[in-house]
Amino acid sequence: VQVTEIPTPAPVVDRVALEANLSTMAAARPGAALRPHVKAHKCTELARRQAAHGHLTFTCATPREVLGMAAAGLGDDLLLANEVLDPARLRALARCDARVTVAVDSEATTAAAARAGIAEVVIDVNVGLPRCGCEPAAAGRLADLARRAGLTVRGVMGYEGHLMMVEPRTERKVKVDAAMDLLVEAHRLVGGDVVSAGGTGTYDLHDRVTDVQAGSYALMDSQYQRLGMPFRQALTVIGTVIAAPGDWLVADVGLKALAMDHGNPTITAASAWFFSDEHVTFAPDADGPLAASRAGDRVRVVPAHVDPTLALHERLYVVEGDAVVDTWPIDLRGW
Ligand SMILES: Cc1ncc(COP(=O)(O)O)c(C=O)c1O
Repeated sequence: VQVTEIPTPAPVVDRVALEANLSTMAAARPGAALRPHVKAHKCTELARRQAAHGHLTFTCATPREVLGMAAAGLGDDLLLANEVLDPARLRALARCDARVTVAVDSEATTAAAARAGIAEVVIDVNVGLPRCGCEPAAAGRLADLARRAGLTVRGVMGYEGHLMMVEPRTERKVKVDAAMDLLVEAHRLVGGDVVSAGGTGTYDLHDRVTDVQAGSYALMDSQYQRLGMPFRQALTVIGTVIAAPGDWLVADVGLKALAMDHGNPTITAASAWFFSDEHVTFAPDADGPLAASRAGDRVRVVPAHVDPTLALHERLYVVEGDAVVDTWPIDLRGW
């Protein structure tokens, strides 16, 4: 099967670029020093490639991701880096065939985890992102509460998501260090042997954590590309040109095939004018490779934000050049 035969719109991953990204990260943060975040791709086959590069511990954002990873036999050490109160979902996590550790940041989440029979938790600490996470000073008390409730406290996590895009890099480093001062202090109060933090934007700025939770590095997106990281754009969403009326072209990749929260996706050698539900209207550069495009031709759109883009699709096509060499289900979708 060739790329030209794929029904569009469809996400396509370049196998060579993916493998290069996985190798680059595995060299920088080998084995358990990286805890790849599966929310970036929601695909157990891609997680298997990360395992083949030596990472056997994973981060998840939803119970569904944990259960899917467990069912795929990738459950050596799964961290649900998110808060859950739903008793049925927590019980399913407690029962599944995997080592599952759940983040807790309050009395409510700790009690819910203990009641559902969860064995292991980490204390989620707020290191500056106004989302989940307890105050650093409250982490020790919460850990005591968890231990009294029968939970094993493995350590702490703290996600500095507000710092991923800080530029220049020297300033990002200073801010990450300050955020990690908070996490290290919380760890002193909590104990345990896990200190988990970070993402693609900060993967090489951490020297005091046990593992970095990067996810986007595998496939990349146009937002992260702006940081000039050593990872290649492996993911595109491929579309078909359905109209070529004049100065502009129209392809069948709209905002229902692309997450738009990080701004407009891009098209190499063209300017994307605007996206509608099922269309992108774009103008090819006059002397570029798309200048002679006609109806029926394929076009590759680079998503601005990889995670929510892939969550819109059911399968990922793996390509080498123009040949489709594999199809991977995006099987961790849902909650
Ligand atoms: C808890 C947590 N850890 C890590 C990440 C890092 O992911 P990425 O590498 O895609 O920036 C995220 C992304 O939002 C996250 O929510």
